[in-house]
Amino acid sequence: MQTSRYHEVYARWQSDPQGFWREAAADIDWIKLPQTIFDPKAGVYGRWFADGVCNTSQNCLDRHIAAGRGNQPAIIYDSPVADTRRTLSYSELLREVELVGHMLKRFNVGKGDRVIIYMPMVPEALVAMLACARIGAVHSVVFGGFAAHELATRLDDARPTLILAASCGVEPGRVVHYKPLLDRAIAEAQHKPETTIILQRPQEQASLIEGRDYDWMALRAELIAEGAGPLAPEPLAATDPLYILYTSGTTGKPKGVVRDNGGHMVALNWSMGALYGVEAGDVYWAASDVGWVVGHSYICYAPLLKGCTTIVYEGKPVGTPDPGAFWRMISDYRIKVLFTAPTAFRAIRKEDPRAEYLAKYDLAGFKALFLAGERADPDTVKWAEDILKVPVIDHWWQTETGWAIAGNPLGLGILPVKHGSPTVPMPGYDVQILDETGKPVEAGKMGSIAIKLPLPPGCLPTLWNAEERFQTGYLAEYPGYYNTSDAGYRDADGYLFIMGRTDDIINVAGHRLSTGGMEEVLASHPSVAECAVIGAKDSLKGEVPLGFVVLKAGVHASQAEIEKDCVRLVRDRIGPVAAFKHTLVVNRLPKTRSGKILRGTMKKIADGDAWSIPATIDDPAVLDEIAGALKAGYKAG
Ligand code: COA
Ligand code: AMP
Repeated sequence: MQTSRYHEVYARWQSDPQGFWREAAADIDWIKLPQTIFDPKAGVYGRWFADGVCNTSQNCLDRHIAAGRGNQPAIIYDSPVADTRRTLSYSELLREVELVGHMLKRFNVGKGDRVIIYMPMVPEALVAMLACARIGAVHSVVFGGFAAHELATRLDDARPTLILAASCGVEPGRVVHYKPLLDRAIAEAQHKPETTIILQRPQEQASLIEGRDYDWMALRAELIAEGAGPLAPEPLAATDPLYILYTSGTTGKPKGVVRDNGGHMVALNWSMGALYGVEAGDVYWAASDVGWVVGHSYICYAPLLKGCTTIVYEGKPVGTPDPGAFWRMISDYRIKVLFTAPTAFRAIRKEDPRAEYLAKYDLAGFKALFLAGERADPDTVKWAEDILKVPVIDHWWQTETGWAIAGNPLGLGILPVKHGSPTVPMPGYDVQILDETGKPVEAGKMGSIAIKLPLPPGCLPTLWNAEERFQTGYLAEYPGYYNTSDAGYRDADGYLFIMGRTDDIINVAGHRLSTGGMEEVLASHPSVAECAVIGAKDSLKGEVPLGFVVLKAGVHASQAEIEKDCVRLVRDRIGPVAAFKHTLVVNRLPKTRSGKILRGTMKKIADGDAWSIPATIDDPAVLDEIAGALKAGYKAG
């Protein structure tokens, strides 16, 4: 094994953080080079590259074309569900971005205006993001698996000028009708954008409302006929927002994570070389969705910043058509690095435990598999290592950070792997394990995982329209630190182990969901007096939500009726992605004497883990009732 430069590089960052990031910033083209690397007085906890001027789309496109990469594929689109393949070179991608930039300008969208993007995994989703970046508009991509109500809450918070959407998405076996969802969301929202531009897909022609909805391709054709030329990238402050990405908080109201331009580019570009070990010209595939942070950072921005070819895959790891789908992709496009969630590998293993599909493909150019989005269980990691015979690298991060907090840096030389650990903090992150009083704990002891401020470039500077929520939710509990809301420990070798969330967030198939948000939905059912939702262990998705409801006095509905209603409600209000399938009707919920529902103990009972009666419980008999209801009505997946 080659010796790793990790310790030397981390120590270099520790001794001179600003010098470290100044050097990394030199790999980016600046319209005005930043003189101040970090301004501790700006923003909530300081700002990176505050006096720099730049444009993200220029760094993703023009820079590489100028360096001779115009004909290199920038995006490869492969859709087994739409039976389509398409490649866009860097020059072609720039042209499309410029055309959509012109379109946006035609509707008076400019610097600082928000644009909602509601699109499936098609190249136009990246074109839309980059077009916003080019003109300085702030995009907010909404995942297609969310329901109209979730889209409406984002419309009201982001207050977009315009929406870019597709007529539909394609899930295996069904078309997802985006346009009716969009119409419902606009009807529900207080804030109603004046314009929508719809990409009509061959699978569904959506009906358009005259004067509000425009056809993407018709506008594009008009612009071409009018001779629309190049569109210069808008000079932006490094600290100007590039995008807002909503993520689950502990309530039903999502949090708008803000990302800037300058720090984001510097950090992502650095991560591509040092962490993922890729160079310009390599083919890099993040098998996720543009609606998640992984899609923002590693389908769209980072690979393009680095001059790689990125993959837009509209399919699943299994069933489209078989568990060999990922191997086909790696072999067809000579993919060097794949990044996905462990759940994708659990799905492949479930269908093809002996990896027989793998033998059909040549994976010669494949160098590494990166996993993130949820805890990578050692069993799945070992299986992937055995079948692929390349490094399988767990890395840990969050929507808020935008790039890895901890990982095993392939580009700096890989460190010995410890299963169950995402290895070590990346330069930029001073990670501490704290006790309840905020004091660092000794090696091997569990605690809350916090990052000493300032956060590195690329991490959120604040929440959109919610600075107070940013302060109270992340910074208040441990002064001087950012609280990750993950719990875990560090071993004697400095390896981190991330064991789970300390809040009401659960992780379902690598998707981050709020149990509090689901409880708000169940509580709106007219027959429900009170409820609790927990994340129960699931062998495929990691966790799945499980609801418990207490009915109002006098309601006589069957368990089956209530469950059906609750499942429909959550699907309608939050969306299919919540994967909410089970509700148990119980007589009472276990509570402390002060009235707090004992969700942690309920989870242990559901998971079949050892549990004890909490000292503060009001009536211990309720726990037996919960155990009885689970035994009678729920089978863990
Ligand atoms: N648009 C509309 N609906 C969507 C959707 C989208 N973009 N993505 C998922 N859904 C729907 C699914 O069709 C499913 O609906 P159903 O209840 O009608 O079957 C529901 O949301 C739940 O989806 P999911 O949890 O993904 O389950 P699945 O059974 O469809 O697939 C896996 C399971 C493991 C194959 C899938 O989760 C997967 O590929 N995961 C990879 C990891 C990943 O992408 N993580 C993202 C962060 S890195
Ligand atoms: P998201 O914001 O959707 O990326 O989800 C972030 C959360 O997912 C983290 O706070 C963790 O709880 C969990 N997570 C992500 N990656 C890992 C990992 N490698 N190991 C353990 N948990 C992870």
